[in-house]
Amino acid sequence: MQRRPRRLRYNDELRELVSETNVLKDDLIYPLFIRKGKEIEEEIESLPSNYHISPDDVLRRWAERILESGLKSVLLFGLPQEKDSTGSRARADDGPVQQACRLLSREFPELYIITDVCLCAYTSHGQCGIVDEGEVDNDATLPYLAEMALSHVENGADMVAPSDMMDGRVGAIRDKLDEHGYKRVPIMSYAAKYRSAFYGPFREAAGSEPAGGDRSSHQMDPANSREARREVRLDREEGADIVMVKPALAYLDVIRDVREEIDVPVAAYNVSGEYALAWAGAEAALVDRKELLDEMLTSIKRAGADLIITYHALEFAEGRKRS
Ligand code: PBG
Repeated sequence: MQRRPRRLRYNDELRELVSETNVLKDDLIYPLFIRKGKEIEEEIESLPSNYHISPDDVLRRWAERILESGLKSVLLFGLPQEKDSTGSRARADDGPVQQACRLLSREFPELYIITDVCLCAYTSHGQCGIVDEGEVDNDATLPYLAEMALSHVENGADMVAPSDMMDGRVGAIRDKLDEHGYKRVPIMSYAAKYRSAFYGPFREAAGSEPAGGDRSSHQMDPANSREARREVRLDREEGADIVMVKPALAYLDVIRDVREEIDVPVAAYNVSGEYALAWAGAEAALVDRKELLDEMLTSIKRAGADLIITYHALEFAEGRKRS
């Protein structure tokens, strides 16, 4: 007699046993916004439950809490006190990220410190590069980015993550780090970074709204996916050790494509808009925030991401016993 195929009936244990995708604390990177000043701990309105923090006792407390939760890695963004046309605070030893790197690397060596390398939060015009006659000058920007990356590493960063999307910046940063003996410091490049409405809440968090124009000259068109394969190949050839796709949720196909294209780890950035929409939706009693955010992470990992940068990392980690 022919048997009818039966579907597996799950309970929680079986589900865990056979699950194809598990998001682990080890996969997550937690962004931190470091603001110059003392005793600052201010919730970021556009990114609930994330804070502007100063590189002093406040940062110490956060580092302890992050490690206690089981997370191991942070991505640092800086908010300087002053901005100018070339973003000079981005490469200053007393800049916010440099101070944070010194404190964290000295006192919390088990924490893996990644730094965002881009000028947009440091320039008076809010563009990611040097502006010449109203336009971002790609090549003129490269030495500034390389200096910025070097200064992060000299102050204790374990890895740098250029997010500006200028052509040639991975190579420029690699050369600079090598020249100064930091051959082993890896580069995670924001390789496929789309021009996206999902970055809205971040620009408020980082104070990096461009004063005029947009970023279409150096960010990718959401309509294109083959271009993403090309971008990651180029960054790989220049020496990127990890390539990133950003945003994540509306670009799961790109994550999958990139995963298939390239044999280095693929990171995905679960960006501010994805996160803030979950909070806003929950606020309006439309969705369950935690379930929604957890589902996002699972889907991003299922699509092929090896690591995920997410504002939800700490809440996720504090809610889980297992790694
Ligand atoms: C640029 C940078 C941005 C984000 C990370 N790095 C903003 C941008 O490209 O406009 C966005 C991250 C997010 O939305 O969460 N320094």
